[in-house]
Amino acid sequence: MSDTVIFALESSCDETAAAIVKNGCEILANVVATQIDVHKDFGGVIPEVASRIHVENISMVIAEALKQADMTMEEMDAIAITQGPGLIGSLHVGVQAAKTLAYAFDKPLVPVHHIAGHIYANRLVEELHFPLLALVVSGGHTELVYMEDDFTFEILGTTQDDAIGEAYDKVARVMGLGYPGGPKIDRLAKSGEAIYRLPLPKTAGELDFSFSGLKSGVLQFIDRCKRQGVAYEEANLAASFQETALTQLLQKLEKAIKLKRPKQVVLAGGVAANSRLRERMTQMMEEQFPDCAYIIPPLSCCTDNAAMIAVAGTAAYLHQVRGEMDLTADPSMDL
Ligand code: KG4
Ligand code: ZN
Repeated sequence: MSDTVIFALESSCDETAAAIVKNGCEILANVVATQIDVHKDFGGVIPEVASRIHVENISMVIAEALKQADMTMEEMDAIAITQGPGLIGSLHVGVQAAKTLAYAFDKPLVPVHHIAGHIYANRLVEELHFPLLALVVSGGHTELVYMEDDFTFEILGTTQDDAIGEAYDKVARVMGLGYPGGPKIDRLAKSGEAIYRLPLPKTAGELDFSFSGLKSGVLQFIDRCKRQGVAYEEANLAASFQETALTQLLQKLEKAIKLKRPKQVVLAGGVAANSRLRERMTQMMEEQFPDCAYIIPPLSCCTDNAAMIAVAGTAAYLHQVRGEMDLTADPSMDL
């Protein structure tokens, strides 16, 4: 069989990215222009600012990806693009660029769901085995996704309110740690102990998640300490928040594994970079599910990039998914 080479663009949030991937697993180019330095001054991503920077950077990342791979657009089999979910203005920039490339070079256009990208990023590490269960944890998502087979998706559980990354970012903000908060809490928690009791949220669905009560719990804890003039240890608060949030994630993951008995479990999304989550998940898989394969992706595969969109785009392309010239960004796209 001949090789499949996919060119992909990703611009759903604050990273403008282009990549070229061969046969769904071999990275030929991977370029990410991040906007973190701009947004951190505002304490979070400003959508309007994000879209403008995508416009400024998109041509540059496209050219850089072709240069890295030493290839031309004519050599691509298809153009994959993140259609959603994400920030509408940001998504539009990538979608428009991808449509232009597909039209100009007469290539198939392949729309990709951002979460499928995060899950398929694991194929850059190892072959995927189905049925597969993915725990997707990012700034915009907290989901348990079951894949009976390649390119089939069933959402078993999702968040009722905040996504876990969002909770990390909000808690970091109230603690005055800056943006993005996830890595800061991760680091600070290493020198703390989870000694403060915070509420473990309740959810309607057995496999659903909830983080807003925990976030409010942290706020109330800080307020109470201030009112009573009691000092608290920042590192201990970071550790207490983190352990409570991760306990919820792992309890739900455990339930889903027992329910579905997958062949493989994969971790996906920006929060997969969390060192304590990686540690606790490894421990749980080794001790409780020694016969189940699992992938904890390297840090480079966790945060937003276009290589993951190219990998999911390869599966979509081979499953005949195509977009036409009337394709438009879908900020709340279903998986
Ligand atoms: O997947 P991603 O790049 O963007 C979305 O698709 O939303 O994830 C970004 C999120 C942010 O909320 C960030 O704080 C979080 O991932 N994050 C972390 C860590 N590194 C990034 N959260 C906890 N611990 C980390 N080490
Ligand atoms: Zn993402």
